[in-house]
Amino acid sequence: MLPFIRQDLAELTAYTPHPGGASGESAHSESAIDRLDTNECPYDLPAELKQKLAWNYQQLIETNRYPDGGHAALKEHLAQYVNESLNVPPLNQGGLGGVTEPKTTITADNISVGNGSDELIRSLLIATCLGGKGSILVANPTFSMYAIIAQTLGIPVVSVARKEDNFEIDIEAAKRAILSVGAAPVGAGCANAQTENPPVRVAFVVHPNSPTANALTNN
Ligand SMILES: Cc1ncc(COP(=O)(O)O)c(C=O)c1O
Repeated sequence: MLPFIRQDLAELTAYTPHPGGASGESAHSESAIDRLDTNECPYDLPAELKQKLAWNYQQLIETNRYPDGGHAALKEHLAQYVNESLNVPPLNQGGLGGVTEPKTTITADNISVGNGSDELIRSLLIATCLGGKGSILVANPTFSMYAIIAQTLGIPVVSVARKEDNFEIDIEAAKRAILSVGAAPVGAGCANAQTENPPVRVAFVVHPNSPTANALTNN
């Protein structure tokens, strides 16, 4: 280990892949189901679908140019997909959707894409909290990467416990925690204003929460 690696980073433990995944085999054992909270599934994609995906990739890959880092075409498609999904008629009107009124149209400008959500979480925290500008709020137990990514960036994590009986977010505890941080920064108003106790800028409200599966309600 290099001696100048930050101690708190050196102490982080890496994600351990499922034994089936590490060997490249698809694992169909019952024990494989224990990774659902980390988006792993005991069942691999059907071979036919894998072939289609590989074929599509082969048609699109260009190795002599950089791809569009702004992902313009993908964002257009995603915006169209989301708008169509929002306007699907609800079940009681013969459709499969859950909304009663058409929602605001979204455009490609409203969409960010990343290599998995960890990259998006990191980008969000860099944009809002880095450099002593903010802290994050998590309601534990929840997806561990919010706090880990914050830690790697030196961003303080404010944690509250979920309710013991049903794992719902304890809203009152969350409010108290938010109000307990965020003393006026030194040089408030300056672009570089910093505080060691910065206000909560991002609260992770997860739907459905991982690993407890709580869905959000209007409350
Ligand atoms: C709540 C939640 N968000 C995000 C992720 C990260 O998923 P991915 O990077 O595959 O999008 C996970 C993975 O377990 C998760 O549980």
